[in-house]
Amino acid sequence: MCGIIGYIGPREVVPVLLNGLKRMEYRGYDSAGVAVLHDGELSVTKVSGKIANLRDLLDSLDKPGNIGLGHTRWATHGEPNHTNAHPLIDGTGKIAIIHNGIIENHLLLKTQLISKGHEFKTETDSEVIAHLIEEFYDGDIEQAVRLALSQVKGTYGLVVLCHDEPDKLIAARLGSPLIIGLGEGENLIASDLAAMIEYTRNVIFLDDGELAVVTREKVVNTKLNRQTVNKKVEQIFFNIEEIEKDKYPHFMLKEIFEQPNSIRDAMRGRLLEDEGTARLGGLHNFEGTLQEVKRFIILGCGTSWHAGMIGEYLIEELAGIPVEVEYASEFRYRNPVVEPGTVVLAISQSGETIDTLAAMREAKKKGATVLGICNVVGSTIARESDGGVYIHAGPEIGVASTKAFTSQLTVLTLLALKLGRQRGFLDKATGQMLTQALSELPDKVSEVLARSNEIEELAEQLKSKPNFLYLSRGANFPVALEGALKLKEISYIHAEGYPAAEMKHGPIALIDENMPVLFIAVNGHTYEKVISNIEEVKARKGYIIAVINEGDEVIRQFAHHVIEIPRTNSHLSPILAVIPLQLLAYYIAVLRRCDVDQPRNLAKSVTVE
Ligand code: AGP
Repeated sequence: MCGIIGYIGPREVVPVLLNGLKRMEYRGYDSAGVAVLHDGELSVTKVSGKIANLRDLLDSLDKPGNIGLGHTRWATHGEPNHTNAHPLIDGTGKIAIIHNGIIENHLLLKTQLISKGHEFKTETDSEVIAHLIEEFYDGDIEQAVRLALSQVKGTYGLVVLCHDEPDKLIAARLGSPLIIGLGEGENLIASDLAAMIEYTRNVIFLDDGELAVVTREKVVNTKLNRQTVNKKVEQIFFNIEEIEKDKYPHFMLKEIFEQPNSIRDAMRGRLLEDEGTARLGGLHNFEGTLQEVKRFIILGCGTSWHAGMIGEYLIEELAGIPVEVEYASEFRYRNPVVEPGTVVLAISQSGETIDTLAAMREAKKKGATVLGICNVVGSTIARESDGGVYIHAGPEIGVASTKAFTSQLTVLTLLALKLGRQRGFLDKATGQMLTQALSELPDKVSEVLARSNEIEELAEQLKSKPNFLYLSRGANFPVALEGALKLKEISYIHAEGYPAAEMKHGPIALIDENMPVLFIAVNGHTYEKVISNIEEVKARKGYIIAVINEGDEVIRQFAHHVIEIPRTNSHLSPILAVIPLQLLAYYIAVLRRCDVDQPRNLAKSVTVE
């Protein structure tokens, strides 16, 4: 997802823009640029590649000014190069824009504008916005932006700066997040809280279809049709050190090691050990709905979808309620059947994933109650859900999701426990055992993390393997999927997760001495079945790595390597089992000199289709 920042105020604008872009670079990008208004000149400086290149270039140019735009681009239309980098300008060079999103009718608009004499310089869809504004501009930039956006189909998080009106920025939002930071005699606009946290904790979240005129002293929010909207000023609570690496070489490693605390935070104030249940404040208004729910549909993408897959096992086993798990990107386009009594759980770390947002809107249109399970407070999915539960994992900067995943699983366990107990499906004693196991979980996570050196040594032996298989059964099958995704997305090694029992239906043909097969083989009712699958692979000379319970002397006989984790309640084993897989992927990626926090081609939050 592109990074957007705009500033107007007394400060030198270039350092503010570069600092904000730096705070957002974790999201992934391939080019960057700034536009600055100074001494009656609108100057645009852009680079392909990293923000460091932009900083070096700007250091050599003297660009004083107090109003400007900054952008990091994750290419959708047009190559990731200098020309296609934002900010983009109109034909007069007096209007600069930065845009996140996709303009779906850009080709038609471009043809129309070219027929009116506009000359385009880039391959981007976004450039049409600059020329449309130019087309409508007659001395009122706000009005020109409104008219231009009325022609646009698609999504945008947009900020506009006009040379002839140097005392304001125009921001508009439809489908891509934009936040306004309110300062003293200064204001900021950004696509991510991290870009403004050093300047203000008072923010306004723009909603879809809204436009804001931002000057040094005030912010006026309206709908695109000029209808005034009153926006709530919200406070940001996370601190700057939460978005810094501290002593760690990468954000991903920091976030893996934060998991004992992030899991504690996911449970804080929510575990009712005496009653053997859980309390989720965000669902307080839905007690009746949850008592009567007939089916859950869980929506998510990527790692969040894996969490939803485990949520299915949890809710069906602990609460006896039918669950279906859907890729949000598929659900939104297949005209799904949503029966009365359906509750949708939309799982999203960023709360901005466009497929998940669109799928939940589709479910709402069909009458479902939608509950969000998000990490980013105030995110679009969180705000558009009817209710929900924050996972409180703190900012997750590494593109590869780690602590958010285990916190999602923790919250899903709390939800399943609460549902099972309130519906009489789970007795008190069983509930108390689960709450006891949950309270012990963070320390057990620490025990797994203490084995990180052992896993780093294993990574040294596996770093050059071209393929991997990850296998398990039951609620640990989605953990196999997650382990494979972690390896793929940061080390670029091909890896597949599979239900262990499925191997004999084809994939076992892949097995030979060169194929590393990682089994999750911990306590649970399919443990013996997994051993059979391990023997099938062993018989074909597969190279076996197994995540096992401490003290397991059986599987050790078949495996080339074992990684031991503490025993826990079988419903919680996915939370422990995934951690060695996170670490293995991390160390292999580091050994392969990959960009662990910003893997190629990836963005932290996918706000474009
Ligand atoms: C996870 O490691 C990936 N970066 C990606 O699959 C991610 O989980 C997915 O894009 C969903 O993001 P969300 O949780 O913010 O919606």
